[in-house]
Amino acid sequence: MKTRITELFGIQHPIIQGGMHFVGLAELASAVSNAGGLGILTALTQPSPVALSAEIVRCRAMTDMPFGVNLTFLPSRTPPDYAGYVRAIVDGGVKIVETAGNNPQKWLPALHEAGVKVMHKCTSVRHALKAQSIGCDAVSVDGFECGGHPGEDDVPNFILLPRAAQALTIPFVASGGMADARSLVAALALGAEGINMGTRFVATKEAPVHENVKQAILRASELDTRLVMRPLQNTERVLNNAGVERLLEKERQLGSAITFDDIVAEVGGVYPRVMKDGEMDAGAWSCGMVAGLIQDIPRVKELIDRIMLEAEEIIRRRLIGMLA
Ligand SMILES: Cc1cc2nc3c(=O)[nH]c(=O)nc-3n(C[C@H](O)[C@H](O)[C@H](O)COP(=O)(O)O)c2cc1C
Repeated sequence: MKTRITELFGIQHPIIQGGMHFVGLAELASAVSNAGGLGILTALTQPSPVALSAEIVRCRAMTDMPFGVNLTFLPSRTPPDYAGYVRAIVDGGVKIVETAGNNPQKWLPALHEAGVKVMHKCTSVRHALKAQSIGCDAVSVDGFECGGHPGEDDVPNFILLPRAAQALTIPFVASGGMADARSLVAALALGAEGINMGTRFVATKEAPVHENVKQAILRASELDTRLVMRPLQNTERVLNNAGVERLLEKERQLGSAITFDDIVAEVGGVYPRVMKDGEMDAGAWSCGMVAGLIQDIPRVKELIDRIMLEAEEIIRRRLIGMLA
């Protein structure tokens, strides 16, 4: 399939694996890229720019295909060494960056000078327009369904994607709630040039996370995610668990007086405990409503091949058949 996104990134299929903390490691990113999609390493999972450089080298040893790096700018008391991570990306010869969380303008000149294409993740049309105006090459439009940070506007993809299509001239991918061929064909119909998936890729054989995480996604229905940290204007969609229930109880009790210090036990340092150790009640970790559509743990190539094959069937048989 050829779209503006496959052309921009030099990939075979319009399927991207979004950056994921403690999931977006070389094993998964290389598997997605080897299957013809775009795999993405997550910069901040690496403890330092030097460690990111090593992860880029490790990923390159596992694939000859293009892969990207995610740079997430989220509120933090001690900001990471973003300049160092950008240097590691540029020096490592990576040509695609997914930015998220905050305006990436400051980093665009260095990235563009090095020939890096930048796709910014946005949860609203106004942010997508801003990304376009500062020179981003593409955007990833994340609807309210998405795992991770859906923003504060709560607009689901059935509205957000066609709004993005009306407003943008740069290409965009649909993100949030994407799981299968139906998602891909629907996203294309709504104006996107491809899909970005997070949660679906966690439940694959190659995702380098504890089996408990994959099984939890398999067990979950579309009703099992919760929104946390809304009072802090840092809303995150996570899979419900005992730690999340504790966090929500604190939010109820403390109301608008809540601070990050009050919830640090449920949100700080949770990812390694969940993703590496499989401690499923440790606290809040991102998961999309799309968990309700995930019923197997395929190899990445099986998943991507299945999506592309079934998408073609939907387009050639079901949709064309309806016209006949
Ligand atoms: C476990 C997990 C961790 C994530 N971590 C990040 C992250 O560090 N940075 C980021 O930009 N997005 C992160 N995301 C969001 C994904 O990149 C993607 O935008 C989102 O999962 C799409 O929604 P979906 O889960 O419905 O596919 C994460 C998502 C998940 C499920």
